[in-house]
Parts: sequence; structure tokens; C-alpha cells
Amino acid sequence: MRTEQPKMIYLKDYQAPDYLIDETHLTFELFEDHSLVHAQLVMRRNPERGAGLPPLVLDGQQLELVSVNLADQELTDADYQLSDSHLTVHPTSATFTLDTTVKIHPETNTALEGLYKSGGMFCTQCEAEGFRKITYYLDRPDVMSVFTTTVIAEQHSYPVLLSNGNPIASGPGEDGRHWATWEDPFKKPAYLFALVAGDLWCVEDTFTTMTERTVALRIYVEPENIDKCQHAMNSLKKSMRWDEEVYGREYDLDIFMIVAVNDFNMGAMENKGLNIFNSSAVLARAETATDAAHQRVEAIVAHEYFHNWSGNRVTCRDWFQLSLKEGFTVFRDSQFSADMNSATVKRIQDVAYLRTHQFAEDAGPMAHAVRPDGFIEISNFYTLTVYEKGSEVVRMIQTLLGAEGFRKGSDLYFERHDGQAVTCDDFIKAMEDANGADLTQFKRWYSQAGTPRLAVSESYDAAAKTYSLTFRQSCPETPDKVQKLPFVIPVELGLLDGKGAGIALRLAGEAMAGATSRVISVTEAEQTFTFVDIAEHPLPSLLRGFSAPVKLSFPYNRDQLMFLMQHDSDGFNRWDAGQQLSVQVLQELIAQHQQGLALALDQRLITALRSVLSDERLDQAMVAEMLSLPSEAYLTEISEVADVDAIHTAREFARKQLADQLFEGLWLRYQANRDLSKKTPYVAEAEHFARRALQNIALSYLMLSGKPEVLAATLEQFDACDNMTERLTALAVLVNSPFEEEKAKALAVFAENFKDNPLVMDQWFSVQAGSGLPGALERVKALMQHPAFNIKNPNKVRALVGAFAGQNLINFHAADGSGYRFLADLVIQLNGFNPQIASRQLAPLTRWRKYDDARQALMKGELERIRASGELSSDVFEVVSKSLA
Ligand code: TRP
Ligand code: ZN
Repeated sequence: MRTEQPKMIYLKDYQAPDYLIDETHLTFELFEDHSLVHAQLVMRRNPERGAGLPPLVLDGQQLELVSVNLADQELTDADYQLSDSHLTVHPTSATFTLDTTVKIHPETNTALEGLYKSGGMFCTQCEAEGFRKITYYLDRPDVMSVFTTTVIAEQHSYPVLLSNGNPIASGPGEDGRHWATWEDPFKKPAYLFALVAGDLWCVEDTFTTMTERTVALRIYVEPENIDKCQHAMNSLKKSMRWDEEVYGREYDLDIFMIVAVNDFNMGAMENKGLNIFNSSAVLARAETATDAAHQRVEAIVAHEYFHNWSGNRVTCRDWFQLSLKEGFTVFRDSQFSADMNSATVKRIQDVAYLRTHQFAEDAGPMAHAVRPDGFIEISNFYTLTVYEKGSEVVRMIQTLLGAEGFRKGSDLYFERHDGQAVTCDDFIKAMEDANGADLTQFKRWYSQAGTPRLAVSESYDAAAKTYSLTFRQSCPETPDKVQKLPFVIPVELGLLDGKGAGIALRLAGEAMAGATSRVISVTEAEQTFTFVDIAEHPLPSLLRGFSAPVKLSFPYNRDQLMFLMQHDSDGFNRWDAGQQLSVQVLQELIAQHQQGLALALDQRLITALRSVLSDERLDQAMVAEMLSLPSEAYLTEISEVADVDAIHTAREFARKQLADQLFEGLWLRYQANRDLSKKTPYVAEAEHFARRALQNIALSYLMLSGKPEVLAATLEQFDACDNMTERLTALAVLVNSPFEEEKAKALAVFAENFKDNPLVMDQWFSVQAGSGLPGALERVKALMQHPAFNIKNPNKVRALVGAFAGQNLINFHAADGSGYRFLADLVIQLNGFNPQIASRQLAPLTRWRKYDDARQALMKGELERIRASGELSSDVFEVVSKSLA
């Protein structure tokens, strides 16, 4: 590990590289107890940086240098300088080649960064700074090179040898070994390099591009998973077509490969022509993957494919620009998912996620701008802010420019910067130039952290028939101490008349009334918009479709929210009105609990949900979303000080009330949908997702009644269904029920049936770790001893520990601090072998500001214990030190 205290790196210190690498020729010799990497780099002085020949400082970590040749001369110890992070040599001419050989140990690499082994196969993960663990290099995204890669390995164990680009030659070698050479004609930064060697099978297909070129598509998996690739293949073909149709982007190589690996720190990686995926983001079939898992596979396949343009052809100049590729690509994949499924439901899910988790990040010690201005460890900045808020920022640009203007801007961006490493400013400039727009003030979204507040008030003048909305924006302080200036906030809105119809909108000074929904831009700290010809006091529908990532407040009363739930023409806002109503009702229950009063649920919530439940015309997925109460995590996020017990008690009370009072309606919808499920073979399509979503949320409410007919129905569904969506819900419902015998039996049967499928066992772990019933920590600790658990596998850690600390708030925040102690112990352990995972699992402890004094003290105590626990990785060091600052 490192020897010095980790340092901050700043965007303002950016300098172009001193040297460039035109060609990179790599040869890997893979063995069981070590590997050798030979690198030949064809280099030259960067003309942008002037004439002299400064020392050449290459990145390299955990490498054993075997030999180094500069301009064909072997160097001796005196000719170069070596530290634990760099190799420095001294070029004597402006163009030269550098040859190095290093020895590395993929077989003991538990950090899953660089070259490592997952199961029996070799694979790589180079983003962001993993390539420096493979060979000495200029490991920065603005150094782009053409790569040729030869892989040599034992033939029997590693029959498949892959790298980026096209295969150009292969053949047998000595001692049962063989080799293959791959050539990638596109210049790329080292973070997009990939290599795979293993005993893999593949599913093959082809895609004919818009210019009639045939592309070979291959998905490589371990042989036992060959029957779980079809959904990913379908998703890939849909993504390729969609990117042609919606963005005019065609695939560029003759082959596109995806490889599934079991040990992976994140979801997937967009390496040029050779995407490497967490197996959880590829494998899906009815019997083993839920509807949610199917949708996740479709979205991640699309996301990584879309990176071929937004990330690979046009890449990032430096890691501060990460959202240039990630925010844009998340925006692209969410548009894609909206087109493939229900757009409103996709929007609801994205916004619920953003508001719960990104808003919490924005309010915590790691808050940072979409384009951060400093970091210690870049791996810590693959965040909800860079990804999800970054996507919202791109979405706002589209809202402001219109779909056509946005497309013109993206065309210009790709045309202007193809083959370059660029910045967020370049992206904005292309959008401006293509539209004659000025986004100067808008760019504050990239530099100012924190979630803006937008408080709205109204006034109606009956005599003048004018209606005014006044917007006041502000943004809370964040640790970066940046002075907050007003944002450009696009607010899509409408005004409803007494019957719920939209009023044609005309702002004072405008000639004619226009549409009933429009976008206004709030650009000042306080700003009033006056609508004219408004014959009656209207009800505003604000921030339709969640047109900006802000916390909007308007003093709606509950009857007005019920009215919006019924009448708003914007589906997202109908849902949001229901959420706001639920929040008001739940906050009232929370207050009752805190005051020691008997809990009494506002019956209007029941009335509102009863009418949703009986509305046969509504999309069933919408019904399911509207029946879902705001999560405990969301209720925590919107609290000044979150009262864990009151939130849990209030929400569970409301759920039980809904279950009892809406029993009949829920039971009818459940039975109708379960009957259909029985008759229909599993299909992974929106209409079927919707039916099962309503069926399953209905079942989870119904079980709260404890009635024997519901238990019987749950057992029937568990035993007789043909898919994991129904089976896992039935299991979760039993696990959260008081029926101990049935619960134990179902868990045992499930584990016995799926013990050989690690992804299904992850679900089995999660369902138990997430159960809010008492005793969760003991269950989690016991499950860590289960033969299917493995702390070295990130999916297992997420399934058990992540589900416990992230979703099971009532147990994680146990007043005695046992949950915190458990998590800190785990982070200390993970820090020793996988710093990226250690740092991510730490997130729940960083939220200490949200809790009461006693819990704050306990949480900070655990953070301090981690800080004092010994040598910390830069990943954990950064999060712990910022959390305690
Ligand atoms: N670029 C990847 C994505 O968004 C992210 C990623 C995959 C990653 N693996 C990683 C980031 C490891 C950091 C470390 O799709
Ligand atoms: Zn990405």
C-alpha cells in the first residue's frame, strides 16, 4: 500500500501531457502464479507543450519491473527512477520507443482493479486508474493510443482469448499454450483497455447497421449460464437500433462482445468492443431473474453500448469531466428505457431514486458538484451526483432547447469532437453553437453542489383575471464552500380549472394564449410570472415530469393534492401529488407517535388510494407505483432530524391501515392478476411487468391482514409460479410475516433449489437482510457463515451487508449502535482487500448528521474507529476524513 498521506488533486491544476503515445503494443503471458506484461510504446513529445525534453514520468503501481529499454537501449538502475507509483526515464529525442517488461500477480488481486482472476478466468477493469496496475503507462484519459494486444495462455484452461477491436491472428504455442492477437483501430485511452482469457461459451447473433454493415455480436459466459443470455442479446440489438434512430449513431467495429464475470466492483464497463459485465447485469431468464433484474439488464446493456459514442469515440479530457460521459450516457439509457417500456413509470422510478439517494448525497459530507473541482480518490466519484444528477442536467438542456435542438447539439458535439478527449464545456459549447443559445448561467449546474430549493407562492386577482406565481430559489451550503448563485431552473407547469381541465397559458405581455403546459425558466433568486385571462382561481401543477432536480414546495392542502391525483394531465405529477399527500399524512403520524398519542390515519389517503385501485383504465404499473408509500429512506431524507423509530412505526401503521381498509379491492386485483399470470407464460415486456407489479404489491399489503386465505395464496404463488418475480415476492412476503414455520420451510426449499445459482442466492440473502422484523443483525451475521456467502465477492457483500445497512433502517440504526459497529468492522476488513467496495459500503455511516445526538455520537465513534484502524486505502481515507471534518 501507499507510503504517503493521500493528496487532493484539483481541476485547476490540469496540464496537458508532456508526451503522447501513438501506438501501444502489448503482450501478455498468463501463468497460474504470475503474469508477464511486455509493453512497447511508440511515443513522442507533445508539441503543445513546447520544445524541451522533460523527464518522462509513467504511472505504475504494484508492478515488478523486469526490464526497461528506451530507444532500443536497455537501461540500468542509474538511468531511471522508480517509486511505488512512478517510473521516470529521460528521453533524448522527440520521438522514441519505450519497451518495458513487468511481472504482476492477477491470481492474488482481490481489489478487482487491473488484471485479476474471477473464478477460473482472467479479466480486467481499468477505469478509472487500473491500467497502471498492468504496465507502466501514461494512465490518463487525454493520452489516446492505438492498441495491439497479444494474449498467450495455456490452451486447455483458457481456450478463449479476447481483447479490444478485431482478431487479426492466432495460433498454437509451446507446452500446450496458444496465442491470439487483437487490433483496435480506434485511438483510445488506457481506461478502455480490456483483456479476457477463460473457458467461456458464447451466444452469437448479428446486427445489420444503418449502412448495411454486418456486425458480429457475442455474449461470453461460463458454460452453465449459456441459457441466460437471450434477454441481454435482445437488449443489445434494440440498443443498437435505437441509437441509430434517435441519435444517428452507428456502431463502428465488425464485432461487439460482452463478457459476464462474477466478481466485479460495479455494474459493467464499456471497454471498446469488449464490454465486461457483472454477471448480474447480463444473465436473465424467467426462472432465475425478476422483472426488475430484466429491466436492469436491458438498461445496463444499453448504457455500456451507448458509451461507444458518448465516452469512447468522444472521451473525457480528465476525470473531473466524468459526468461528460456518465451523465450523458445515463440520460441516453433512461430515454431508451422510457421508449422500450412505460415512460411515466420509468420517470417515477428514476425520480424516486434521485430524491432519496442523490439528494441525501448532496446533503452529506461527500457532496460535490456534477463536475467536482477536487478529489483524493477518483473511484469515490462514481456517484449518484455524477451519474444521476448529471443525467438530470443533460435532461434540462433538452427541455430548454427542445428535442430537435438537442439532437442538433449532440450531432455537432460528436462531429466536432470525434476522436478527442474533451470537457463538459465542450459539450455545452456544441449545444450553444448548434442552437444559437447562451448557456453561461446554466453551467452553474456543473460547478455548484447541493440541491436547490424552490419555494413557490401564488396570488390570484379576480378583478384583473391575473394569476401570479412567485418563485424563490436558494441552495444550502455544502462542504466545498462555493458561494451559490442562482441556477437556471426550467419549470414545466400547467394551471387546472375547477373541473380539472388545463387552461391555455398566456403570460402578461404575450400576444396569444398557447398550450396548456409550458416550460418557464426561473433564473433569478426571486421571480414572478403573471398569467392573464385566468377566469377563476386555478390550481397549479408545477415541475411536471420533474423538469429540474430541485426541492419544490407549494402550500397545497390535502384536498388539492387529491384533486391533482385525479385530474392532472401529467402522469408524473399525478403520482407526485399522491406522494406529497402520503408524506403529509405520514408526517402527521410521525408527530403523533412522538407526542405519545394514538395514531390516527387521515382517511383521505384511503379514499384517494381506493379510487386509484378501482380505476381499471389506469396503467397497472402506475397503480402499483401510486400504492407504494414513500420509503423510510425518503422520509429520512426529507426530515430535519430523522426519528428512525417514529418513521418506521408510522409507515408500518399506515400500511396496515391500507391493507385492512382496502382489503377487498386489493384481493380482487391480486386474484385477477395471479389468474392471468397462471395462464400466461412469462414475457419480459412492459404490460406483463405492470400486471405482476400490481399483483405483487397487492400481495405484500394483503399479508399484513394475517388472514389464512392470504397465506394460502402466498404459498400457492411460491410453489406454482413459473418465474422469479412471483416466487421472490412470495418469499419476501413470507419472510416479513409472522408465519415462522412456513417462512423457514420456504427459505429452505428456495435455497435447496437455487444453491448452485449465485445470483439467485444473492436475492435470497437480500430478502432476509432487508426484513425489518427484529433480530436482523443476528440473521445477517449468521448468513455470513452460509456456504453461499463469500466476502471477496462484491455481489454477496452488497446482497447481505448493503441490503442491511441501506434498506433495513430500523435495524441498522438500532439504538445500541450494534448495526454501526458491525458495518465499521466490515469496512475495516474490506479495506484490506477491496478498497472500492469498502468505501462504498461506508456510505450509510457518513449520513450521521440526519440522526439524533445519541446516534450521531455512535456513528462518529465508528468512523473514528475506522480512521484509527491502521493503514487506510485512499478510498476509505477520503470518505472517513471528509465525514469527520
Ligand atoms: N464506466 C462504468 C460505467 O458507467 C463504470 C465502472 C465500471 C467503474 N467499473 C468500474 C468505475 C470500476 C470505477 C471502478 O458503466
Ligand atoms: Zn457509464
